[in-house]
Amino acid sequence: MDERSVVTAYRRLSGTYDRFFGPVFEQGRQVAVDRMGCEAGDRVLEVGVGTGLSLAHYADGVDVVGIDVSPDMLEHARKRVNGNAERVTLEVMDAQSMDFPDNSFDKVVAMYVVSVAPDPKKVVDEMKRVCKPGGDIYIVNHFSQKGPMARLERLASPLSKLVGFRPSFPLDDFLAMAELDVIEQKPVNAFGYWTFIHARNI
Ligand SMILES: C[S@@+](CC[C@H](N)C(=O)[O-])C[C@H]1O[C@@H](n2cnc3c(N)ncnc32)[C@H](O)[C@@H]1O
Repeated sequence: MDERSVVTAYRRLSGTYDRFFGPVFEQGRQVAVDRMGCEAGDRVLEVGVGTGLSLAHYADGVDVVGIDVSPDMLEHARKRVNGNAERVTLEVMDAQSMDFPDNSFDKVVAMYVVSVAPDPKKVVDEMKRVCKPGGDIYIVNHFSQKGPMARLERLASPLSKLVGFRPSFPLDDFLAMAELDVIEQKPVNAFGYWTFIHARNI
């Protein structure tokens, strides 16, 4: 999908997103925010924050900036942070070309985003650029499976299509392209169908 198609798809999806994709992806969100181990004073960027379903998981005192290319998804996130606006900032922004200066954040996370964005490499390159050297990068995403899991994948493909995930996105190809210094990798969500990745920004 190109960027305009992403915006259009998520305009349609935004009203029902939480009902369908809230529970399905919830464990991955929790694992990611737990593993991030954020402390008061940390400056965190969440790329493709969507309707803000992860925001409640961050500890008090963490300064979270959430960006998304879809104004409609962010509208829902805004309602969610009402009353908590002092620690969460939301902005419409393309993750492939962010407005932030280099080395702006301690931790940068993208949950279920890299395979929706038209150019995943640009997203990861931008995540690295805006993350401080020695900072942390976290990704939760589905990568194409091999063997018996491939059958399950075919069953789930209409769901994947709905949210714009690219159907073929092998983990090995992603890691080779992203050039991340991976320090942890673990399966998350139902059937371990999704992968959590923690990398150090070098
Ligand atoms: C599957 S949703 C995930 C939302 C949220 N992270 C979650 O855990 O539910 C993908 C999100 O990525 C956003 N997105 C896709 N491409 C993007 C881009 N280039 N820049 C910023 N956000 C993007 C979509 O608008 C959508 O909100």
